Amino acid sequence: MGLRSRRNHNKVAILSSSVEPFAAVEIIAAKRDRNELTDTQIDWVVDAYTRGVVADEQMSALLMAILLNGMNSREISRWTSAMINSGERMNWSKLDRKTADKHSTGGVGDKITLPLAPLVAACGGAVPQLSGRGLGHTGGTLDKLESIPGWRASLSNDEMLKVLQDTGAVICAAGAGLAPADKKLYALRDVTATVEAIPLIASSIMSKKIAEGTSALVLDVKTGSGAFMSDPAKAAELARTMVKLGTDAGVNTRALVTAMDVPLGLTAGNALEVRESVEVLAGGGPADVVALTILLAREMIDAAGIVGKDPEVALKDGSAMDHWRRMISAQGGDPDAALPVAREQQVITAHESGTITTMDAMKVGVSAWRLGAGRSKQGEKVQAGAGIELHAKPGDYIKAGAPLMTLHTDEPARFERAIEALAGAVTIIEGGTVNRLPLVVERILG
Ligand code: URA
Repeated sequence: MGLRSRRNHNKVAILSSSVEPFAAVEIIAAKRDRNELTDTQIDWVVDAYTRGVVADEQMSALLMAILLNGMNSREISRWTSAMINSGERMNWSKLDRKTADKHSTGGVGDKITLPLAPLVAACGGAVPQLSGRGLGHTGGTLDKLESIPGWRASLSNDEMLKVLQDTGAVICAAGAGLAPADKKLYALRDVTATVEAIPLIASSIMSKKIAEGTSALVLDVKTGSGAFMSDPAKAAELARTMVKLGTDAGVNTRALVTAMDVPLGLTAGNALEVRESVEVLAGGGPADVVALTILLAREMIDAAGIVGKDPEVALKDGSAMDHWRRMISAQGGDPDAALPVAREQQVITAHESGTITTMDAMKVGVSAWRLGAGRSKQGEKVQAGAGIELHAKPGDYIKAGAPLMTLHTDEPARFERAIEALAGAVTIIEGGTVNRLPLVVERILG
């Protein structure tokens, strides 16, 4: 009797595992017709897409319906959970320090993660920073760090824990096991014009950050021409959506909406940005990079409840630099090695004298990308030395003929298209006034 009933049970289990509870087409139609998706529909469609049961063309249609018709906060939260549940969740409970992380939505010259992670470590925190590579005009943290000879982006979970324990900060590539649903969905969104939907961006970013296991998270949501969300109101909406997702998941989350109308600092490009980050860690560097690094460090420390050194002190007394050197060495990098320099340089000079009133971040980013600093499809190699060095920024007075920027590349054939991208990027007006976004546009607490 016992044996028989077990056999029947097995049969039911086999049957139910081969019959899917929903049809993708019904879920697509529901969103097309502006209906809310149920929790079980969302769980199933994300899981079934990850398993390959829902086809790319069906998920593309659903993503477009979501982009056009939106999702409410319950749907976004469930979609995020389904993506988290598609993979592993990291756990840092073995650490003797509190964890805090930062995520930036990306911008031109945004190298803040590089000085920030060792800085927060020097202040007593642990920073488990899983980063990505650049795509399009914005750079990627891993591409930047890979310009340091020997530095390795891929670490096992045990290696990550060891680097974090020994140095207080680790910056590495997210493993294949972290939110695999997002990896598949992001690649599909990239080729179906469905990246720019707040529910999809928020769930994509937050699924990875929640799965990463940090206890506190500060979001740097960029706005202005060089950002994903050029409209400050949209950027603030994205920030609020992500703060709610993090808070609801038990991560102490807050956000700063910050300026990306003008490139951050004086460099855009991999090795160039590492050099500038080291200048900041040495107590120098451009004022905007220093100010944003300190601001974000204070937010991370506060959100995590870390009691330690003030970030401004840690930059001045060399302790942030010590943590940087240890973090780079622990991942095989040589912090003393010379950074790669591009084979060719071309200086762009000012056509007239006056005050620089605008410098379009997007145009500078596209130009750096065309010089070889970024990639146009996944897997492409980037040039470590390529990019743009700025000699003046909005607010500075410049004389006609003085150097405005230097373009760097290994392939001189790239100069022409890079210079084309800069058309209209800079405005110089005698007696002109600068009209730009403040560094911090809005602060959103969870
Ligand atoms: N970064 C992500 O990780 N996901 C998005 O959707 C956009 C930016």
